[in-house]
Amino acid sequence: MIKKCLFPAAGYGTRFLPATKAMPKEMLPVVNKPLIQYAVEEALEAGLSEIGIVTGRGKRSLEDHFDISYELEHQITRQVEMKGLGHAILTGRPLIGDEPFAVVLADDLCLNLEGDSVLKQMVKLYNQFRCSIVAIQEVPPEETNKYGVIAGEMIRDDIFRVNTMVEKPKPEEAPSNLAIIGRYILTPDIFDLIEQTEPGKGGEIQITDALMKQAQDGCVLAYKFKGKRFDCGSAEGYIEATNFCYENLYKTGKAH
Ligand code: UTP
Repeated sequence: MIKKCLFPAAGYGTRFLPATKAMPKEMLPVVNKPLIQYAVEEALEAGLSEIGIVTGRGKRSLEDHFDISYELEHQITRQVEMKGLGHAILTGRPLIGDEPFAVVLADDLCLNLEGDSVLKQMVKLYNQFRCSIVAIQEVPPEETNKYGVIAGEMIRDDIFRVNTMVEKPKPEEAPSNLAIIGRYILTPDIFDLIEQTEPGKGGEIQITDALMKQAQDGCVLAYKFKGKRFDCGSAEGYIEATNFCYENLYKTGKAH
């Protein structure tokens, strides 16, 4: 059973400066709710009620947001040096211990108005397959350099068994156009693999590199989720998300 969810929120958020000078971009509101709260609600819907937030700056705003009025168990830990997503996940190790867990990047806002949330879909898949899972989506070929990109063997029309993973490949070097987005389920052996991972693209410790080792030794699945995903780390995605949430959640009274 997966009970814990980690939210890395320690990135620089350079694309949203100056808004992100004193607060993490995960506190940016989409209509009336900060990104981190959409993400936490998605985790709760998936049955994950132990929440760990890894933050670099603006710790206070996150703490204030999730004060005692919020019915969940949460802890906040600090990534002192921002050495990449893999490193941020490793920072959360003391909160996770030796059990499978989810990782949610709250700046990727995922919504499925038709059924289970993306994380809930992934938790169900984990219960069936019991290995690490990354959420993927098809992206235009010219955008592969913004993502980790996978290739693998299709085992169901929406599931691949991963055999290749490349971080931010140029379009001509990309093994496919299947891009990893900000939802992961990880088995705890990932921590030792991250520890053994040297800094990669951009001098950062990449979760993609650790996952590639896991895929070579065992099994990593890539799952084409049902639903919409907005890249709220970019201005375009943020505005799109705002319009979508206003029309579909706020105006219809589903936002709370
Ligand atoms: P991004 O690649 O979006 O980087 O990080 P960023 O620094 O947040 O944003 P820009 O590109 O400067 O605008 C992906 C995710 O990993 C987290 C971020 O918070 C984000 O959720 N992250 C990244 C960390 O927690 N720590 C890191 O050292 C790096």
